[in-house]
Amino acid sequence: MSAFEGFDFVLFGGTGDLALRKLLPALYRRHREATDAASWRIVAIGRQPMSSQEYRHHAYERCCRHLASCELDNGWQAFAAQLEYLQMDAADSQAYAALAALLPAGDRNRVYYLATAPQLFAGICRHLGDAGLATPRSRVVLEKPLGRDLASATRINENVAKVFSEQQIFRIDHYLGKESVQNLLALRFGNALFEPIWNRSWIRDVQITIAETVGVEGRGDFYDGTGALRDMVQNHMLQLLCIVAMEPPASIQADRVRDEKLKVLQSLRPLSADDVAAKTVRGQYRAGAIGGQPALGYAEEPGVPPSSGTETFVALKAEIDNWRWAGVPFYLRTGKRMQERLAEIVVNFRAAPHAMLSGSLPPVNRLVITLQPKESLRLDLMAKVPGEGMQIQPISLDMSYSSESGRRWDAYERLIMDVVQGRLTLFMRRDELDAAWRWVEPILGQWQRQRPPLRPYHAGTWGPTQSSTLVVRDGNTWHEDS
Ligand code: BG6
Repeated sequence: MSAFEGFDFVLFGGTGDLALRKLLPALYRRHREATDAASWRIVAIGRQPMSSQEYRHHAYERCCRHLASCELDNGWQAFAAQLEYLQMDAADSQAYAALAALLPAGDRNRVYYLATAPQLFAGICRHLGDAGLATPRSRVVLEKPLGRDLASATRINENVAKVFSEQQIFRIDHYLGKESVQNLLALRFGNALFEPIWNRSWIRDVQITIAETVGVEGRGDFYDGTGALRDMVQNHMLQLLCIVAMEPPASIQADRVRDEKLKVLQSLRPLSADDVAAKTVRGQYRAGAIGGQPALGYAEEPGVPPSSGTETFVALKAEIDNWRWAGVPFYLRTGKRMQERLAEIVVNFRAAPHAMLSGSLPPVNRLVITLQPKESLRLDLMAKVPGEGMQIQPISLDMSYSSESGRRWDAYERLIMDVVQGRLTLFMRRDELDAAWRWVEPILGQWQRQRPPLRPYHAGTWGPTQSSTLVVRDGNTWHEDS
């Protein structure tokens, strides 16, 4: 693509929360800084009757909440001038002629972003194909959740594949767009230092936490049919696990990276019925307080049935059956309405083989990759306590970028531009998605059959106590407890 060619961006689900909270602000930020911005064309599609002018106004109101005031300059007028709204029912094949009429003729890059319910994906792709809109330079972005299980994901993928080739399909997982995740790749594969110790001989355990303080945010209906395992573990958490555990790919080329991630997913030890009982914890939040503010219990949230058995918290122990990782537990934990908003990967190294020096605190060697709330990379080591004697104490080496390196791109900014440029490295290939479902499905199945207890936890805590027990049983502790 030449630098000034621009592209068309067609956003299905244009009035939805994701579009207004994440996608339009990300597009706006990129537009403000782009040299070819004048040739972009954005068409937002929704079912609500509205003129383009009304939509621009609505989008401005909503985007304002997610943009810094310094970003809201006259760049917005330029952006809005290229933003159209099309009221249409995406399930109606006749409606696609109106979309075709809005898109400039000619062969240029075109992105169809499907931020809709996954049940609509197959139909939208079919109608795009029938209307002649699936041109060779088109790409389609599929938002998660991509199905509810392997069978429904397969159905969607097969139908989308009738219209778009695998090279045109971008299955998005916005966690892979986060700066620290890419920094972890840079750290692992840009230095000779870490690779020799990145294995079972030197690493004791890996912990991946995504804790949110928010609840279901008005999405009670959707969330209650989904739960934390499908919403967070099957995708975001397993993708993070892959980035930590994969072998060094031969290159950063998409299929080389995706081949290595796939091997990790295929090496995850399947959980038997007994394993599911012993190595998974499901919880649901009860009323509590977060940051001094009272918070409702999950079952009192709008759209959630009072007797709901859906999990809002999951902790589990995963193991990878290969030479590099045999015997190293990967603890995964995610929950809504927890004490802090925190997403981090903690790599705990083994203790020094001979404790020659003493200190008031137990020795730690640990790499902490924080994704949220503030992206950072930190190495915890032991160093001498200054002054007399030879005591040691923990110190932290901050390996983050300096604050001078400017505003970081948000995950969606990076991933949207990757789609426009046709870079697939940070998107999931179909076989990866299938492998992730294959690993998660027995857990879902056992939970349905065995109905293991749904452990309550108060909003504003780190989850049910059984989550700590899961880790303590192996002689380890969650990072915040250590
Ligand atoms: C989404 C989930 O994929 O990720 C949401 O559907 C969750 O339930 C969100 O809140 C978390 O994303 P982030 O980037 O805010 O941590």
